[in-house]
Amino acid sequence: MVLTLRKRLRQQMLDNPRSVAPVLWAMRARTAAAHAWSESRKAASWLVRSVEADNDTDDLTALSREHLLWATALATGSEISLVERYADELDRDTALRATLDRATTSHPHGATLDRPIRDGRRIVWYALVRLLRPRLVVETGVHHGIGAAVLCAGLLRNVEEGHPGRCLGTDINPHAGWLVDARCRATGEVAVGDSLATLRRQTGPIDLFIGDSDHTGGDERDEYETVLPLLSDQAMLVSDNAHVTGELAAFSRRHGRRFLFAAEVPANSFYRGGGVGLSFR
Ligand SMILES: C[S@@+](CC[C@H](N)C(=O)[O-])C[C@H]1O[C@@H](n2cnc3c(N)ncnc32)[C@H](O)[C@@H]1O
Repeated sequence: MVLTLRKRLRQQMLDNPRSVAPVLWAMRARTAAAHAWSESRKAASWLVRSVEADNDTDDLTALSREHLLWATALATGSEISLVERYADELDRDTALRATLDRATTSHPHGATLDRPIRDGRRIVWYALVRLLRPRLVVETGVHHGIGAAVLCAGLLRNVEEGHPGRCLGTDINPHAGWLVDARCRATGEVAVGDSLATLRRQTGPIDLFIGDSDHTGGDERDEYETVLPLLSDQAMLVSDNAHVTGELAAFSRRHGRRFLFAAEVPANSFYRGGGVGLSFR
């Protein structure tokens, strides 16, 4: 019966779409309502389950993880199997997990982060550290220090394999980076102050730059232009804001670099996720 009705409706849509306009509107309303219901449920569940107010963390969907890893492989000219190996290495880094867990349990700001901490798109940042073996990584905008801890974990592995490197984080908030413990600080430091002022004091060469500070205006562009003369030949730039602005894409166009973007899709959140913009030669 329902099938016959659907068939007739389909036929009428082909013959004379105007005659079934109200039915089509009702169908669209049903689709919109189902979408709104599903999003409201996710938002309500987040409200109850999560303690995070900003910079939300979540697991990636399997598909998003796949896309992010392929983007990393393409941007670095690496085999996907190697990128996956490094991503799995991050998942299994028990020392990093213990460090993050200890910090979130003992630090007052730990109450504002969900546990266990999820790396999300930062899985790409880790893989880049392992693939590129940078001597200097710069991250603008450290916040709690999830990214900084992940970057330092990669640098520590590189050191074990005979490829030393260090990470300079910078944040305007003097409390930023509380997740970065003594073990991580063996390869990294957080400079307090405005990102542009910190970048202007650097001499480089920077092999990996991650822009994740002020997401609101022209600062993003200024950061890229400021680090340009400090970049090593094969330097990679990462934007944590490329899902919102076209700044890194435009920078890449201006300076003869290539650009690609892969989206972060959270598995359990109504938050749409960020992504990873990559600029490379
Ligand atoms: C999105 S959070 C960074 C997240 C971090 N990269 C991570 O992996 O979780 C943005 C940070 O940028 C910092 N920030 C905002 N404006 C800044 C500026 N002009 N200079 C330096 N840091 C800034 C904020 O204090 C905040 O901690």
